[in-house]
Amino acid sequence: MDDGGGSADAGTMSTAPESHPVVDDVVGTVAGSLDPARWRLVEAPQPASLDAPDAWAYHAVADIDREQHLEIYGYDDLALEARDVLSGMQHQEYEAKRRFVILAAREPAGEPEVPDVVAHLFVCRSTSSNTHLGESYASVRPAARGQGLGSALMDLGEGLCRADGRTVLFTATQHATEVPAGPGAVEATTGAGRVPADEPGPRFVARRGYVLEQVERHSTLDLPVEPELLARLGRDARAAAGDGYRTHTWTDEVPDRWLDEVGVLFTRMSTDAPVGGVDYREDPWDAERVRTWLTEERGKDHGVLTTAVEHVGSGTLAGFTVITYPEDRPGFAFQDDTIVLTEHRGHRLGMLVKVVNLEALARLRPATQRIHTWNAEENAHMLAINVALGFAPAGGWDAWQRKLTPGADA
Ligand SMILES: CC(C)(COP(=O)(O)OP(=O)(O)OC[C@H]1O[C@@H](n2cnc3c(N)ncnc32)[C@H](O)[C@@H]1OP(=O)(O)O)[C@@H](O)C(=O)NCCC(=O)NCCS
Repeated sequence: MDDGGGSADAGTMSTAPESHPVVDDVVGTVAGSLDPARWRLVEAPQPASLDAPDAWAYHAVADIDREQHLEIYGYDDLALEARDVLSGMQHQEYEAKRRFVILAAREPAGEPEVPDVVAHLFVCRSTSSNTHLGESYASVRPAARGQGLGSALMDLGEGLCRADGRTVLFTATQHATEVPAGPGAVEATTGAGRVPADEPGPRFVARRGYVLEQVERHSTLDLPVEPELLARLGRDARAAAGDGYRTHTWTDEVPDRWLDEVGVLFTRMSTDAPVGGVDYREDPWDAERVRTWLTEERGKDHGVLTTAVEHVGSGTLAGFTVITYPEDRPGFAFQDDTIVLTEHRGHRLGMLVKVVNLEALARLRPATQRIHTWNAEENAHMLAINVALGFAPAGGWDAWQRKLTPGADA
């Protein structure tokens, strides 16, 4: 299947029917379930660039994502840009990805120049690891909700995952504030983190049989961090780390000498960071995958700022932290992965790399006003570091999972 490629009408969705009859059936069945007088299901075409005429679907995906973020948070820092969609779809070396959109049916009087996209589905299946998992994410514009479009899209995403032999379905919702315990809340199976039960996303996915397996706390840090606080945290961390460790900071490309080791750190992220009840297993990275990730970030026009810490005695990396940022939106940045390998914990290396990276960000990009980050609610050590730096809760990213029963009609 030509993932992400070629648009087709609802009745002619077959990108490769002869080789994928089951997959084609899934698409055709869902497309056929929509009222043709009102809606058309189309696979998003993969444009050569965002200026190409067939880039309309990726622009619409970004617009829907922005609308959804404004609805939940009131700001769009976290929303996808069209270039994020394009670069992400261009890189399928480790995941198979497909995007579908639902269009409002055309007026008989004439065709609008730009299709009226009302809903979007992203389906992602990891191919290099975790081949039991299948991810589906549906978004419907508020004005088009409550008419079965979200259900149709999730039927499609889940059907494609099942047809591909995936036995665990995954999806996610987001919320801006944590609700108090009680009937208005869904509790994560980890016991840490709650989601508002009455918001459209949680209600919808819970109805479809998904279980809330983990909540990642979204936190924001207002910059600049009070210089005295940062200096003190840095001093304390350096004192605890001693002479046995030294930091290295770089932007964008990973120096050749660290490529393999950065691959190890990303691999260990997949096993050492808490995943709650999500059936997520080791996801191996090597130097080639690190390069691919950086190429994808460059395609998104994202800068990448990294501080790693070397264990001097062995000459190996003991941990790292990564900040990414859209080059053309200086107001914010994202605190991405941070890890200290188990064998090097207890030396305040997590705080050390974070302080050094924040100091580097202040020099490199002094206009940055806030940093967003996400940490598992049960990840007490990481949260403690972030709270000490001044990160404050700003909502959550909610991981939902549905295990299929073998042989049953899921
Ligand atoms: C969650 C979301 C995708 C649902 O989209 P939707 O198009 O409204 O979904 P549906 O219409 O299929 O179902 C929504 C509700 O309408 C009801 N419904 C379905 N078909 C209907 C119809 N023909 N007429 C009236 N109601 C209908 C459903 O039973 C459901 O009821 P509920 O709210 O009590 O659960 C949408 O709210 C959204 O985009 N939210 C933000 C993104 C998100 O959280 N996505 C979830 C991760 S996949």
